Amino acid sequence: MVNGVEFQAYTAGVKARIEKELPLIVTKLSSPPALLEAMNYSLTAGGKRIRPLLIFATLRAFEKEEEMGVPAACAVEMIHTYSLIHDDLPSMDDDDLRRGKPTNHKVFGEAMAILAGDALLTNSFQVLTEAAHPDVSDSTKLKLVLELAKAAGAEGMVGGQAADMEGEQKALSLEELEYIHKNKTGKLLSFCVRAGAILADASKEQLEHLHQFSVHLGLAFQIRDDILDIEGNEEQLGKPVGSDTENEKTTYPALLGMEEAKRKLRFHIDQAKQCLWDANVQHEVLEKICTYIEERES
Ligand code: IPE
Ligand code: IPE
Ligand code: MG
Ligand code: MG
Ligand code: MG
Repeated sequence: MVNGVEFQAYTAGVKARIEKELPLIVTKLSSPPALLEAMNYSLTAGGKRIRPLLIFATLRAFEKEEEMGVPAACAVEMIHTYSLIHDDLPSMDDDDLRRGKPTNHKVFGEAMAILAGDALLTNSFQVLTEAAHPDVSDSTKLKLVLELAKAAGAEGMVGGQAADMEGEQKALSLEELEYIHKNKTGKLLSFCVRAGAILADASKEQLEHLHQFSVHLGLAFQIRDDILDIEGNEEQLGKPVGSDTENEKTTYPALLGMEEAKRKLRFHIDQAKQCLWDANVQHEVLEKICTYIEERES
């Protein structure tokens, strides 16, 4: 893989693989049809599928079969999608557009949107553990369950979201803002890299370097998200711009100014790339993901 065209083809392949799988997960469930419709609506609405991409690219960095990562990739997309449904609720960011479509609560009502999120969260652990792959042992699955629970819960994404909500209309320090970004966004991205490395039987040292890589990448990802909330294009993003300003959130550009926010973005991308060299893996695709995250417009 040497050029941008090949990287684009690779990301499209990952997206297609996961998007083939996601609707099947919902189809298999016997539940009230309105619940299944609400789950399926957001799960299949598109999105960049960057989290599956990170799992696949990490497996690839160890020259392992990417198919091993499919259950973890679906599980993390389910948790991520639930977090978006809840994030958009009137009691949270109160947004009307997501992945280019009306938000879940706009279509199904608040109660069903909350329940669709609840089900996506809970069933994600079923998906993570149920699938059988000859190279994935039960003890590896158990490790992944622990990793995902920690990344998604009170010491991870939900903790970050809680701090984000509490921080509205307040002047936060850079340290407090970094805590929010590292948790609400960074922890699920770290799960993806760690899951790929655990599935690939990485050494302790490699796991540590890749973890540091994912921490920098996670911060960079949310800084770019904050920048796009100001400079982005609603049609390209598929979600509203100006949401953070309206909700009086502290963001990197709001706290530091746009120029410094972009400098921080560059710093964390550079650091992430450095960690990749230290991990001593076939990091070509992971490195391309760094550049993609730095420059993304959606
Ligand atoms: C949006 O995530 C929420 C954040 C954590 C910043 P993505 O930008 O990955 O959203 P999708 O999945 O592509 O829609
Ligand atoms: C939310 O961050 C991250 C999660 C959903 C966990 P944002 O509120 O900035 O995400 P967007 O901009 O609505 O996608
Ligand atoms: Mg939010
Ligand atoms: Mg939001
Ligand atoms: Mg945002």
